[in-house]
Amino acid sequence: MFKVVKRKELAPIEFEIFVEAPRIASKAKPGQFVILRIDEFGERIPLTIVDTDPETGLVRLIFQVIGKSTAQLATVMEGDCLADVVGPLGKPTEIENYGTVMLVGGGVGIAALFPIVKGLKEAGNRVITVLGAKNKELLILTEECRAYSDELILMTDDGSVGQKGLVTQAMEEVFAKESIHTAWAIGPSIMMKFCTMTAQKHQVPIYVSLNPIMIDGTGMCGGCRVTIADNIKFACVDGPEFLGEEVDWDEFISRMQQYRPEELRANEIYEK
Ligand code: FES
Repeated sequence: MFKVVKRKELAPIEFEIFVEAPRIASKAKPGQFVILRIDEFGERIPLTIVDTDPETGLVRLIFQVIGKSTAQLATVMEGDCLADVVGPLGKPTEIENYGTVMLVGGGVGIAALFPIVKGLKEAGNRVITVLGAKNKELLILTEECRAYSDELILMTDDGSVGQKGLVTQAMEEVFAKESIHTAWAIGPSIMMKFCTMTAQKHQVPIYVSLNPIMIDGTGMCGGCRVTIADNIKFACVDGPEFLGEEVDWDEFISRMQQYRPEELRANEIYEK
């Protein structure tokens, strides 16, 4: 059993939990994720590892309530235990000293971006970070990202903090004044697709982190298959990071919607 030692509501429907998982905490690298189950009947929930502390054995996870299982996870309180937490899974981000890099995070995707921001800064890069969300309340981890960024640009849909507009506008501003070696974008699928198009316009490679439906997380079930450069790949073992320009975005976005009716039905039953 994996004990939740700390829990906090970061924003409306966004929660942070610290889970005791010493073996994961000692091995995890930026870009990797875990799959957890709340109880033995629970759906498997993949979540990116935001941070780890090998000394205390704690793993920090952030999630947004988007359906039945994440709504149930939000009811797990400090002192409660999760049935299992498996990881670290997936390939780590290739952290190197590239020079100047740009990292773009949207919504709860900022949680997955933060360890990469931190890793790239610690590797000696000049880090320019762009964070975007609907409004100020939903813009998470701004101060932590600021601590590891040479420049931080905040964007909100309503202008409640930072500039009013989309992260792609901020990317254009950065491309106009900086020579970017490599970029990363993590957030909603549509955001990652448009970030890819923006980076492509400037001939800058951009990595995205795909979060398709996952079941086993070990490359056995095929649930997380994605098409990358016309080849079938499994996001859980071949990713989750891929070059944005190689992703078949239309297929990915359509597969993300595939189980929406069942997800809505499960949520309705849970809420009753
Ligand atoms: Fe089953 Fe990736 S989750 S193959």
